[in-house]
Amino acid sequence: MSQLTEVTTAPEAATAPAVTTAPDELVGPLERGLAVLRAVATGPGTRHRPGDLVRTTGLARSTVDRVATTLVRLGFLRTEDRDLLLAPRSAELGNAYLAVCAFLEALGPRAEALADELDESVSVAVPDGDGVRFIAQAARRRAMAISFRVGDLLPAERCAPGALFAADWDDVQRERWRARRLHDPLDTDFPALPPRPAGAEPASEKVEADFVARVRQAREDGFAVDSRLIEPGLIAVSLPVRDPAGAVVCAVSVVSHTSRHSAESLTARVLPPLRAAVATMEAALRTPSANGTPATATAVRPPHSGSALKEELGAGFLQSLARGLDVLCAFGSLDGPARLADLARLTGLPRATARRSLITLRHLGYVQEDADGFRALPRVLELGYARLSGLTLAGIATPHLAELVDRVHESASLAVLDDDEIRYVARVASTRIMHIDITVGTRLPAYATSMGRVLLAALPDDQREARLARVTPEALTPRTVATPEALAKAVAATARLGYAWVEQELEEGLRSIAAPVTNGGGQVVAAVNVALHAGRATGEESLATLLPHLLETAARISADLAAVGRFSPVPTG
Ligand code: PHB
Repeated sequence: MSQLTEVTTAPEAATAPAVTTAPDELVGPLERGLAVLRAVATGPGTRHRPGDLVRTTGLARSTVDRVATTLVRLGFLRTEDRDLLLAPRSAELGNAYLAVCAFLEALGPRAEALADELDESVSVAVPDGDGVRFIAQAARRRAMAISFRVGDLLPAERCAPGALFAADWDDVQRERWRARRLHDPLDTDFPALPPRPAGAEPASEKVEADFVARVRQAREDGFAVDSRLIEPGLIAVSLPVRDPAGAVVCAVSVVSHTSRHSAESLTARVLPPLRAAVATMEAALRTPSANGTPATATAVRPPHSGSALKEELGAGFLQSLARGLDVLCAFGSLDGPARLADLARLTGLPRATARRSLITLRHLGYVQEDADGFRALPRVLELGYARLSGLTLAGIATPHLAELVDRVHESASLAVLDDDEIRYVARVASTRIMHIDITVGTRLPAYATSMGRVLLAALPDDQREARLARVTPEALTPRTVATPEALAKAVAATARLGYAWVEQELEEGLRSIAAPVTNGGGQVVAAVNVALHAGRATGEESLATLLPHLLETAARISADLAAVGRFSPVPTG
């Protein structure tokens, strides 16, 4: 029995595969907010003027402005000059789906191992309507012009997994596929594909006949081959992964290039190891944890729907949009299907409010309801996941460093530990003249820098002791902590305080305060600092004015890193 039936008009509407008529209780601001997010995520380029969004969404300018204000305040979008851009928090919407992919845990490492073994790219994709959406990528790109990311969508007829998924289609799905092809013969609704030159669309009948033949072949063979369906050099072989009931849950593909293989030689080479990998994956799906009901909750970022923002922004803040996004994000903290009561509890919302959000999310194809409860669908990945999963640590940190510099008018940087040194990964300089000339890539001795102390303090005891034992601190200035004992004490104090303050130890006149940046697992992966001329204020004054801002920036970078990096590794680069 659906938990939404009380509010749907006809009882069968709750179980129908697609709700085609708009239910009475749709939450308009949520619907419009998701339309804007989708337009920012899938539109050409990364920067969007509100005027462009008016055109692509068909919404009124005033609506776009209110939606954008709300999404920026919640951290799903950010602004740069007058443009709107996706912000890392939007990855949480994709995580709402990825969190229930118990098979990802089993598949991800297997896909990596297979990519290593074959020295070719391996991807995992799931069916999404009549498309194919990537949910894991272990890339070994070489002579390949194009590479897809987690979250990207391909048309079923133009990739190997599509032929496997279409083997299970019913007449309704086939008809939808045909209608989409007729409506969009150039595949413009698939931004991940290289554009087809206008006038180059193949005849519809041929596309259909070829696809039907490939689907039949895939059904007979149990695997599917993509021989240059996307672009001239690209070839792939895919195998379905079935759940214990025999239903296809995803497909694993090995992708190569015609410069290394023909479709035939690739198939011969990769089928045996691919079969072995899929057998391991299917075995993992048979373990009880993979079908994890009841769901257990993992803490993710707390909901933002609090009335504080409403009070602050008044009519400019769309609270029902904030609440609806909280409901969607709450799926990310569950590893199985969600009951209405779970979602209400996790979001702190009344059940009636959570239910209306669910009706809207289901209507838009982001959520489905079955006998076990509600699940987020792969379509949520269209809300920016692909673009965000390509972000590096520097890409995530830089907007936050810029904001910090705006607030404190001093330079801010992010660095990682690299052997006995720190290496600058991102930096935003203030307009003030600094004594030391630091750029991305600069390396400095860890022991004499605030970021180094933070990073050393975060190491496991044995590693920290080993590192401290092997460095010979040099007195770079008269103030440098230059004995091993004093250095060990300074690092211990940093660990205790949660920040480091280094006063003119690297260079005379240079003061620096640093704080740790953590990943979603709570491990310190980088440090962020503010550096300034020591003559501007006393150390205590600098600490009092800068530390709260610095800690807030570190927390924001850490939260973004947790969202983006939860299911896709974030390169340090
Ligand atoms: C990919 O992972 O890039 C891929 C997979 C299957 C295809 C084409 C590309 O058919």
